[in-house]
Amino acid sequence: MTKLRSRLWFDNPDNREMTALYLERYLNYGLTREELQGNKPIIAIAQTGSDLSPCNRHHLELAKRVRDGIISQGGVPMEIPVHPIQETGKRPTASLDRNLAYLSLVETLNGYPVDGVVLMIGCDKTTPALLMAAATVNIPAIALSVGPMLNGWFKGVRTGSGTIVWKARELHAAGEIDDAGFMEIVASSTSSVGYCNTMGTASTMNSLAEALGMQLPGSAAIPAPYRQRGQISYQTGQRIVEMVHEDMKPTDIMTREAFENAVVVNSAIGGSTNAPIHLNAVARHLGVPLDNDDWQRLGHKVPLLVNLQPAGEYLGEDYYHAGGVPAVVAELMAAKMLPHPRAMTANGRTIGDNCGETRSHQPEVIHRVDQPMMAEAGFLNLKGNLFDSAIMKTSVISPEFRDRYLSNLDDPEAFEGRAVVFDGPEDYHLKIDDEALGIDENCILIMRGVGPIGYPGAAEVVNMRPPSYLLRKGITALPCIGDGRQSGTSGSPSILNASPEAAAGGGLALVRTGDRIRIDLRRGTVDMLVDDAELEARRAALPDRPFTPDSETPWQEIFRERVGPLSEGMILRGADAYRGTAQKGTSRDNH
Ligand code: FES
Ligand code: MG
Repeated sequence: MTKLRSRLWFDNPDNREMTALYLERYLNYGLTREELQGNKPIIAIAQTGSDLSPCNRHHLELAKRVRDGIISQGGVPMEIPVHPIQETGKRPTASLDRNLAYLSLVETLNGYPVDGVVLMIGCDKTTPALLMAAATVNIPAIALSVGPMLNGWFKGVRTGSGTIVWKARELHAAGEIDDAGFMEIVASSTSSVGYCNTMGTASTMNSLAEALGMQLPGSAAIPAPYRQRGQISYQTGQRIVEMVHEDMKPTDIMTREAFENAVVVNSAIGGSTNAPIHLNAVARHLGVPLDNDDWQRLGHKVPLLVNLQPAGEYLGEDYYHAGGVPAVVAELMAAKMLPHPRAMTANGRTIGDNCGETRSHQPEVIHRVDQPMMAEAGFLNLKGNLFDSAIMKTSVISPEFRDRYLSNLDDPEAFEGRAVVFDGPEDYHLKIDDEALGIDENCILIMRGVGPIGYPGAAEVVNMRPPSYLLRKGITALPCIGDGRQSGTSGSPSILNASPEAAAGGGLALVRTGDRIRIDLRRGTVDMLVDDAELEARRAALPDRPFTPDSETPWQEIFRERVGPLSEGMILRGADAYRGTAQKGTSRDNH
């Protein structure tokens, strides 16, 4: 049996005085000396649920079942708060706080008597924040999804989180529904506790946490209110105690092989464009190489299997009944498309052993691999004089656009259009319906100043609807480019996460309305057709901190000073130098 880390606090013969000090205070809520000194693992439950975090709020209930599971295996649970990261509630954007929650959880896990941790994941940024922290501290860790909401319904039609907002705003802009109708349709998508029921960033990141091996098999897709959710919570609590005794750490699970599996699974589920940002971040904190070229190379040719909104029609409950992540993995394995079936997972078995037998129960929801929804559904990593790296989700490009600009191998054609540039979402909302801009179907909408430094935090504002007068003519999408992100629930054909951002002096800082933009998907390039001398003149005219409004809070300023580009995971520069803090064991006592 391995020596428990918590014994450095509670049973340290070299320092009786400190042992007494640590012990007496942890006894004061009724724990016994047997619990703290009896070689029982202390298991943290990293609690992301709160009244301010409705998507994860059900974790307040699930934590009770996790505790029961921990105790049943001889562990001692200790629930700890995580800084809230509520996707839809936090201004200016929840992603600003991913690194803050990461930092604070690293300090908590590293500085307190914790032997293992249950990561209570769910809403978009909670999953990467907790995986990043587990990666840095590297104590045994297992993730537990809160689970998606039940399906939303409106007049007999499935309404999915987020996706319905993008649809309803088109109906509203076209004058087909009024304000009350808009609210009613949007609210219909929210039918229970849980996270977004579409394949947005939450379902994506929870599925990928399972594909990485960090959750029990089948855990990601169970809807939040189902009884199976309580049961897997109990089993997760049981398993983390065993993992501590086995000394099974995040570095044993989240290997390069595991990330390659996750990239492939992301294409098959039609995952969010936020996934490369977050997985690249987790990988960096582990010291595992992973970049956007890997995403295109490993993921682009993988077929889309999961028929969930926004790329398809179904929702979270359907995904669960069709078999969830194990069925997706089994389908990929049937075609030998899962690169590493031997990758280890949290339950001590390989992903291949866990999932190999469980083919799709409902091929209309999780397609059979020989009848995919789309043949090549992964991301493209585009480059050019506007940016060094930007992601395009090909599974949501319209069939016409796809045929014309991407699939037709014999007759490559590039898309050329006129740039219409917006400096942030306020500028866009103000001007988009102004007919004087002359936006037509040959325009490319550009959004800048919305990256990690510019916003700050990189906002989900790049998916822009066309002007109302085009919507009324039936033109529902225009190509969009931006240095921010796009909600995973959006189906717009956007070029996202452009790095470096305008605020860091990237090419987007130089583009002007009226410039010609050439998008060549076959070559993987996006360029503004402006000569170098002119670009140099424009660069010389940039102010000191371009596209960077004043910081409102100390954290915003610290974040701006330290943050790296979206293509490198938007982590704090230098934070990835700290790895395996628990193994280093260099912490000093506090008195
Ligand atoms: Fe929290 Fe979608 S907004 S999960
Ligand atoms: Mg979002």
